[in-house]
Amino acid sequence: MADIPESFMQPLEDQPNLSVDVEFDAKEIPVFDISSINVNLISEIREACKIWGFFQVINHGVDKKLRQKLETVAHNFFQEPLEQKKLIKRDELNPTGFHDSEHTQNVRDWKEVFICFTQDPTEVSASHLLEEVGIRNLSNRWPQHPSSFRETCEEYGKAVSALALRLLHMISLSLGLPVERLDDYFQNQGSYLLVNNYPTCPNPKLTLGVGPHKDPNAFTILAQDEVGGLEVKRKSDGSWIPVQPIPEAFIINIGDCMQVWTNDIYKSVEHRVVVNSTKSRMSIPLFFFPAHTTLVKPLEELVDEKNPARYKGFNWGKFMANRNRSDFEKQEGGIISISDFKIV
Ligand code: OGA
Ligand code: NI
Repeated sequence: MADIPESFMQPLEDQPNLSVDVEFDAKEIPVFDISSINVNLISEIREACKIWGFFQVINHGVDKKLRQKLETVAHNFFQEPLEQKKLIKRDELNPTGFHDSEHTQNVRDWKEVFICFTQDPTEVSASHLLEEVGIRNLSNRWPQHPSSFRETCEEYGKAVSALALRLLHMISLSLGLPVERLDDYFQNQGSYLLVNNYPTCPNPKLTLGVGPHKDPNAFTILAQDEVGGLEVKRKSDGSWIPVQPIPEAFIINIGDCMQVWTNDIYKSVEHRVVVNSTKSRMSIPLFFFPAHTTLVKPLEELVDEKNPARYKGFNWGKFMANRNRSDFEKQEGGIISISDFKIV
C-alpha cells in the first residue's frame, strides 16, 4: 500500500479496521418517516436520541432536486484549481470559505471543505475573553465559479434550516417540553453549512476523513452521498457502526449543546469518517447553532432535586470563539469542551 504524508497518519488505536463486516449492524440506526408527526414517532425519536444519539429521516420535505443541484455545483467547485479555491480561504477571524487543512485531535483530516453561515451576515463574539463584550458581523465568502454556487447554497441552507426548526420541535416534544420551547435560542442563530469533499486515498487504513469527534452544536442535519463512510461509536460496546447511505435521507445527530440543555438525557456521540481508495465522497452537514448570546445551561424543566444540574451555565459565543481559536493556535487552558463546565 502507498504511503501517505505523516500529518494525515492516525495513531494506531484510531486507525480504522476496514476488514470488519458490519452490514447487519448498519441497519440498527433507526430511520424515521417524518411526513406526519404523531405520539409514536416522538417516543421513537426519544429512544433513538438516548440509545444512539443518531437517527435518519426520510419524507422530510426537502426537495431532492435541490440537494442534487448543490452536489453538482459543489463538485464543480472542488474541481477548480487549488489556487482558485484558496482565493476564498478561511482565516482566523472568519471561518467561512475554503479550507483544506482541518485537524481533528491534531491529526490532519483527509478532506477539503467549503463553509458558509446560513444567516448572512452572522453575528459572533469578537473575542474568546469573557471580559470583552464586543461583537463582530461575519459575511460569507463566495467563489466566482461556479456562478450558481452561491444561490444554490443559499437556497439549500434555507430549505434545511426550515427542516431544522421542525426537528427542533420534535426534539422538544420528545423531552416532554412545549413544542416551541427552544425556538428563541435560534432567533439570531449561528448555524452554518459545510460541504465536505473526501478525495480518494491511496492508503485508507492509516487515515480518516474526519477523526473521532463530537459535534458542538444543538444537532446536525447531514446529507451523505451513496459512497458511505460515516461511522458512529455504539454506546453499548464502543464499536464503530457505519451509517447506511440511504438516497435522499438526512442523518440527524445530537451535539454538545443539546447534551447540556437536556442535562445528559440526550448525549452527543462520537463519530468519524473512513475514506476509501476508489471513490471520492461528498457530505453536506448543516450545523444547527444557537445565537452567540445564548446562556447555555440545563433546562429548568429537566432539573430537580433528585436530578440536579450537571453543568454550569456558559456563554455560547465565548465557547465557540474559544474553539475556533484553538483551530489556529495551540492554547493552554482554553475552554473547548463542555466537560469544562461539568459540576462535579
Ligand atoms: C462533521 C462530520 C461526517 C461526514 O463534519 O462534523 O462528522 O459524514 N462529518 O462527513
Ligand atoms: Ni461531526
